[in-house]
Amino acid sequence: MTIEEKANLLVGYSFGKTYFGLPTNPDPNAGAIVLGAAGNTAKIERLGIPHTVLTDGPAGVHISEKRPNDPNTYYCTGFPIGTLLASTWNTELVTRVGEAMGNEALEYGCDVILGPGMNIMRSPLCGRNFEYYSEDPFVTGLIGAAMINGIQSQGIGVSAKHFAGNNQETNRLHNNSVVDQRTLREIYLKGFEIAVRKSQPWTIMSSYNFLNGPWTQENKELLTTILRDEWGFKGIVMTDWTNTRHTDRQVAAGNDLLTPGNAEQINAIVKGAQDGTIKMEDIDRNVRRMLEYVVKTPHFKGYKYSNKPDIQAHAKLTREAAPEGMVLLKNENKTLPLESGKKTALFGITSYNLYAGGTGSGDVNKPYVIDLVEGLDNAGFVINDTLRGVYQKYKEFALLEAEAEMGYLSTNSFFPRPRVKEPQLGKNTYMFAAQNNDLAIVTVGRSSGEFGDRTFEDFDINEDEEAMLKNTYEAFHQLGKPVVVILNVGGAVNTEEVKPFADAILLAWQPGMEAGNSIADVLTGKANPSGKLTVTFPCDIEDVPANKNFPRDITFWDEFKMNDEMKKATPNVAETRYEEGLNVGYRYYQTEGKSVSYPFGYGLSYTTFEYSKPKVSKKGKEYVAAITVKNTGRVAGKEAVQLYITAPKSKLQKPAIELKAFGKTRELKPGESQQLLLTFSGYDLASYDTDQQAWVTDGGEYTAKFAASAEDIRQTVKFKAKAETVKCHDVMR
Ligand code: BGC
Repeated sequence: MTIEEKANLLVGYSFGKTYFGLPTNPDPNAGAIVLGAAGNTAKIERLGIPHTVLTDGPAGVHISEKRPNDPNTYYCTGFPIGTLLASTWNTELVTRVGEAMGNEALEYGCDVILGPGMNIMRSPLCGRNFEYYSEDPFVTGLIGAAMINGIQSQGIGVSAKHFAGNNQETNRLHNNSVVDQRTLREIYLKGFEIAVRKSQPWTIMSSYNFLNGPWTQENKELLTTILRDEWGFKGIVMTDWTNTRHTDRQVAAGNDLLTPGNAEQINAIVKGAQDGTIKMEDIDRNVRRMLEYVVKTPHFKGYKYSNKPDIQAHAKLTREAAPEGMVLLKNENKTLPLESGKKTALFGITSYNLYAGGTGSGDVNKPYVIDLVEGLDNAGFVINDTLRGVYQKYKEFALLEAEAEMGYLSTNSFFPRPRVKEPQLGKNTYMFAAQNNDLAIVTVGRSSGEFGDRTFEDFDINEDEEAMLKNTYEAFHQLGKPVVVILNVGGAVNTEEVKPFADAILLAWQPGMEAGNSIADVLTGKANPSGKLTVTFPCDIEDVPANKNFPRDITFWDEFKMNDEMKKATPNVAETRYEEGLNVGYRYYQTEGKSVSYPFGYGLSYTTFEYSKPKVSKKGKEYVAAITVKNTGRVAGKEAVQLYITAPKSKLQKPAIELKAFGKTRELKPGESQQLLLTFSGYDLASYDTDQQAWVTDGGEYTAKFAASAEDIRQTVKFKAKAETVKCHDVMR
């Protein structure tokens, strides 16, 4: 290969001349490949190297649904968001969703899905949390691996992202995350480590931010020493979508592909090779890895894609998957499930305009979204016509109002959308609704996405929503009729402010394009919810330790207006110090005994389960924890069992409990039992000791806690572990 050819292969292309205003490498053959994909790698005709196509994202394939002068449509399935999928705790199901997504990418002529999103939910306010799995690295790693294995089983690659320390959207291109070595290893890198070891992703996406100083994209310690030398990663690293940084440092660090890429970077590589500022051996190493990647792709193999994936079959799968990740938070007096045919007063603008997913690159151009009202119609509920009429009209008005206030961008689905206020209905409306219906269903909705974080207000229930919840509850309770609240959200909200006004609360997350049908399936009991929280719902947003060092109330729109000086002067915009260390999520709440609204791992079912006496034994290098779960209730259901470990006293301070494994039963009929085998290794028990620069497993007696949530430990058993030390490098200070 000539140096020009090599440089070309190391720099990606995008389909336009610019990417959000940045000049990029427009591809001369763009029209011939997949419209709306995020980018592609270079085609080098002389060598038989084809384009390969890179496309978002975590909730399904993100391409344009229409093409110029082409009557066909190219819709993709809108799957449930990452957080919902993780809340299933069902790795088999997540793998099946991955297979379907991978198949869609394959049939639409793509080679890599830019996902899964694997950043940790450090604060509930990160705008992209909906794309991510959990506040816990083991959930993140194990669910991530299940998704990657599913997608890659189709001969399609993934790009596990954003590596690493990209836990806020505010100033995402220039924020410096400052994280101590132990926290970085145990919390922010662990999920990626597990996924690399268990699923060997084809690619990893280095993030936008600085991490303890340098850009992650230029950090050899991160991209080579840890990722490849310690974890054994064999694929390519590609940048998140940026313009030029320091090309020489990126190449040297082992950032193989610079995307979307521009001519300046190609020239810099050619020039660097000639004047010796970029080592030829680094270029060759990256080129070799790019070639190893290319030969695996469907484009290289000449796969004849159909442009006709089976969207109907995948819609069925989303409808099946979504209820399994929905979390039943409250169910007083067995309010749910409901009998179909009930006369229902349906409140809340989101009931008529559900959020199937979040915004930004993680959104999908889907053929439709079933709203809740439609799902309830389909399930045979009789929806109050007066309210339906009011809300349908108000919805149009509210969108127009938002557009008038904010201009074009407010209704452009790529950018975060402002929350639409609930209409203020008169007391009589609530009273008539209560008199003429059997029950009320009220939806509270939240949307967020790439480019911006959520505000503290977005976490709380706002005045207009509180008025709706309170008025509904009072009117219906006066007549002894129940109120069910649906949370159609992409992240935690203040459930303390919802509880007093609800007999039942169903956290539906953002459940994909079959949303309304999936929710109706749970409400009627056609599906028994078995989701459990993978993120704590705190009582107050100020309880979250990370929030002392998190951008405060800066929306995407606010950031838009800030110049560099203002960014420097505003706390946590230029730099964010992760001073809370390991105190992320339940590790903090459980260690400090701090009460929460709903704990990590929590979720109710329409049935009940009993956990037998467990046993932990050692098989080779693995510990096997065996427990039998019995359905002791009246209806069929599945149960997710969590295994937390409490370590013996150690030189290092450790959280009170840490999740190390989990398992989910199949659907058990009433009276039926199943044994689950949960496995973990001695290495999984280790903490990172910065004095020794090693993962250290203390020898001694550990307690295994088998739990239905972080606060609902059902069985415990002690076991002994041998001391182990795995030496690492003193890097990423
Ligand atoms: C996002 C990535 C995404 C890429 C390509 C970036 O702005 O951060 O997650 O994969 O764009 O669309």
